[in-house]
Amino acid sequence: YEDDQYTHIHGSRRHHGTLMAEEAKKLAAYAAVDNHIQNNQVVGVGSGSTIVYAVDRLAERVRQEKLNIVCVPTSFQARQLILQHGLTLSDLDRHPELDVAIDGADEVDAALTLIKGGGGCLTQEKIVAGCAKHFIVIADYRKDSKALGQQWKKGVPVEVIPMAYVPVSRAIARRFGGEAVLRMAVSKAGPVVTDNSNFILDWKFEHAENWKEVNTAIKMIPGQYR
Ligand code: A5P
Repeated sequence: YEDDQYTHIHGSRRHHGTLMAEEAKKLAAYAAVDNHIQNNQVVGVGSGSTIVYAVDRLAERVRQEKLNIVCVPTSFQARQLILQHGLTLSDLDRHPELDVAIDGADEVDAALTLIKGGGGCLTQEKIVAGCAKHFIVIADYRKDSKALGQQWKKGVPVEVIPMAYVPVSRAIARRFGGEAVLRMAVSKAGPVVTDNSNFILDWKFEHAENWKEVNTAIKMIPGQYR
């Protein structure tokens, strides 16, 4: 190919891939809302780009079917989505028991272990999901893997208290290998700051199998948040 021809073909292929991914997210999100949300429920609303489609569909159903739904957000983004769609906003003070929480994920392994937090929201997601009777995860084909790390290459997000990011990072690497790197912001100098005013470490692990054990061990390190 001539250079510009190649760029054109290459560019449009990438565009096609993005369109497919968006369509997959939308289909999965619509199916999740249609199959798992019913009238008179308190619903936890997750964060990320997939959940946007779920909230679109939820708002459509609330309008068309005149559903009575109360929404509890898992992030600033989720709160904005709920408000922008005219849905009923609540919180865990008023609704500490949820019927269902619905959220995306970065990767899902064969045992349904999840990597979450790619979008920087994870602690509130986990709290809200922990208050729900059912947790529904919307994941398209790109997130499906046998073992974690096959699809999601950015590491396991771990939220940390800012003053503890170095000790926590060192403790994770010492115990499990790999490297836990402070996530840096893109349109701001310095680190990403979460909705809880914390930092995020992305743990690029080399190998790990017993995720339950790893999760518990990381949770026990003083200064980490999940
Ligand atoms: C937010 O930090 C995450 O836990 C999201 O649920 C996850 O990153 C999935 O996001 P996308 O729907 O954008 O892939």
